Amino acid sequence: MLEPDQLPRTLNDYYNRARDSMSSENRAYFLSGAGGEETLLANEEAFVRARITPRPLREMGGGSTATSVLGQRLAAPLLIAPFAYHRLLHPSGEIATAQGAGAQSIKMILSAQSSVELTNVQAAAQGCDWFQLYWMGSRQATLELAEMALAAGFGTLVLTIDAPVQGVRDREIEAGFQLPPDMSAVNLARFAPPRFTAPDEGQSFIFDRIAHHLPNWDDVAWLVETVQVPVLLKGILHPEDAARAVSIGAAGVIVSNHGGRVLDRAPATLDVLPTIVERVGPDYPVLMDGGIRRGVDIFVALALGAKAVLIGRPVVCGLAVAGELGVSHVLRLLRDELEVSMLLCGCASIDDITPDMVHLKL
Ligand SMILES: Cc1cc2nc3c(=O)[nH]c(=O)nc-3n(C[C@H](O)[C@H](O)[C@H](O)COP(=O)(O)O)c2cc1C
Repeated sequence: MLEPDQLPRTLNDYYNRARDSMSSENRAYFLSGAGGEETLLANEEAFVRARITPRPLREMGGGSTATSVLGQRLAAPLLIAPFAYHRLLHPSGEIATAQGAGAQSIKMILSAQSSVELTNVQAAAQGCDWFQLYWMGSRQATLELAEMALAAGFGTLVLTIDAPVQGVRDREIEAGFQLPPDMSAVNLARFAPPRFTAPDEGQSFIFDRIAHHLPNWDDVAWLVETVQVPVLLKGILHPEDAARAVSIGAAGVIVSNHGGRVLDRAPATLDVLPTIVERVGPDYPVLMDGGIRRGVDIFVALALGAKAVLIGRPVVCGLAVAGELGVSHVLRLLRDELEVSMLLCGCASIDDITPDMVHLKL
């Protein structure tokens, strides 16, 4: 275990240490993206294009990063993005992540593909009460998974809609990534994966087999209406899909391309965020993720209309390098950097961060 004085000092250092210490299989699984990784890179590159204008000499005493989303108080406008199989990175897996987040009063969204039972993660730390689910092949199975989470104490659901099939992840394929025998999505054990027969001559496996088990908007509307808790849709990139989410009663949307892991050449999330916010209006909860590597990136995303952001790979790296302590430290660094950005731009509160402060270079 690392002592506090052995921890990396910067977010960049966390990334480098994590990348260098991971097995090649884990590196490919956690840090790579789909195809040629154009979208993975574009997410980060969009933030690099942002230019922010400082505003000195404003009164900053008593400022705060606190905010609220869906009526829930957040110490800072960031949450841990749902990601699978934390036990590949640390023996305590999702429990270490939840405790690291809890130590910073940051919420963690637990993935349906958690490698630890959801009841144990929920009980491990305060603030782990958002659960991410995938469509489980039928309305009945999806509702059963949602009800399992609700019974365990989760109160907000995130339905991920952008990964109906796995992306073509070249680096993962080349590294021969496979889950070790003692690793699985334990909470999904009771749901038998659909068994597909081979397609008939001239048929497509994707369109004639898998596609028959995928959800449509009516299914999602049914889920939103049936569960008695807020449901956010994760994986929105088109303004009309955001408007549809509003119309079916989703509590919010998460602008996301799954961290560039599904459709390579999907747009950078930061680039589409403003048009989505414009379409649904400034009061509707629009969150975003993808490519946030620094606290100043959070500032940029908020300025362009996000109510909060989700953090994926920086937390992956914190967990890989130093478990619970690493997660906590990464979140602290992000928040400290956000505070520096706010102070330099004359924003004493999250509501003070406005679109005119950021310019995206073409
Ligand atoms: C290794 C890995 C596993 C992921 N697993 C899930 C998942 O189980 N469910 C989900 O909704 N998103 C999943 N995601 C996507 C993240 O929730 C998030 O959208 C993405 O990581 C954000 O981009 P960033 O890593 O650049 O911050 C995963 C991402 C990674 C890197």
